[in-house]
Amino acid sequence: MLIGVPKEIKPDEYRVGLTPSAVREYVAHGHRVLVGTGAGDGMDADDAAYRAAGAEIAANAKEVFDRADMVVKVKEPLPSEIALLRPGQILFTYLHLAADLAQARGLIASGATAVAYETVTDAEGRLPLLAPMSEIAGRLSIQAAAHALEKPQGGRGVLLGGVPGVLPGKVVIIGGGSVGTEAARTAAGIGATVTVLDKSVPRLRILDEMFAGRVVTRYATRGAVAEEIASADAVVGAVLVPGASAPKVVSRADLASMLRGAVLVDVAIDQGGCFETSRPTTHHQPTFMVEGIVHYCVANMPGAVPRTSSEALNHATLPFGLALADRGLAAVARDPHLRDGLNVHKGRITHRAVAESLHLDFSDPTDLMAA
Ligand SMILES: NC(=O)c1ccc[n+]([C@@H]2O[C@H](COP(=O)([O-])OP(=O)(O)OC[C@H]3O[C@@H](n4cnc5c(N)ncnc54)[C@H](O)[C@@H]3O)[C@@H](O)[C@H]2O)c1
Repeated sequence: MLIGVPKEIKPDEYRVGLTPSAVREYVAHGHRVLVGTGAGDGMDADDAAYRAAGAEIAANAKEVFDRADMVVKVKEPLPSEIALLRPGQILFTYLHLAADLAQARGLIASGATAVAYETVTDAEGRLPLLAPMSEIAGRLSIQAAAHALEKPQGGRGVLLGGVPGVLPGKVVIIGGGSVGTEAARTAAGIGATVTVLDKSVPRLRILDEMFAGRVVTRYATRGAVAEEIASADAVVGAVLVPGASAPKVVSRADLASMLRGAVLVDVAIDQGGCFETSRPTTHHQPTFMVEGIVHYCVANMPGAVPRTSSEALNHATLPFGLALADRGLAAVARDPHLRDGLNVHKGRITHRAVAESLHLDFSDPTDLMAA
């Protein structure tokens, strides 16, 4: 198969779909890899490094999309990229379609087969291609909150860790999955007071054991969330209902009860955001104020640390990408976990939660592939 890797064009996105070492693996499996010039700039992997790994360099995205059987990316395709997709071509990348009707319509019209990283599952029902980026975003969320809490940034002027004799800041984390766990670890690590809320008691039990008293866990009723955020310096929104748009756990009305200059970090913004007042921001202009509360809503947080995140992402995607390259759609038909990743095929939405979120018709992928 010819695998295409275009340079990411989303603002402030410095990651790359395949690192040179991942290219080497595809080449070892007998595939050819075509990499857009400069695609690895963000992690200091130049065209020469890709050539040394066995790739060919394409002059532009059009050449990559025109020639590739499968396009491997990081972020969802932007309209100019969707226009380059063709029927039968495989697109393997993050899509986050549930909150993006325009992109869904574009992919449906393209006729391409889109496999979304974020809905591929593993044997335990977890999301193995979301987890590494979630771990990074979780750790970054506390760095972001700490910075935004500084007075010149509009924050309350609180040092999360405190100092001897002065109380530390309070961090409230809503959603205790991959993002929430790493946010809790980082916040506790710098000495903040940490509460994690989740709707899953088994998950709270795991966190309770993991942090051995260093983090408080609480079941996420509306009342408990309202009570916790009222005294928080920073709130991290890290909820997820797989494939669906994020549930709103903090309303505009709730902001009135919060401390002025407190910080909301909405990590779930890529699924539409879990705070009513959130809207997506970029690394260039990461925050905005609503009713005296600082909002940080960067939709591609790991893009800020492309060296770490490109490597971590490639480690997770490689086995699935190689399966697609080696066996094409037969890999999707054979592997239920890869099939969970199938979001769009033959102009139809093939992921139930995505279809429901977008109010579009759902088509069973097994029936569609057999047809
Ligand atoms: N902004 C970014 O750059 C970025 C990067 C990585 C991940 N994310 C997003 O972060 C979010 C969390 O990802 P994750 O990997 O941690 O997911 P996860 O599935 O590991 O964890 C989500 C947790 O939310 C809990 N939950 C669901 N609904 C809830 C509710 N109403 N109240 C409280 N808890 C609730 C679940 O029980 C689960 O424990 C996702 O939307 C993901 O796409 C964003």
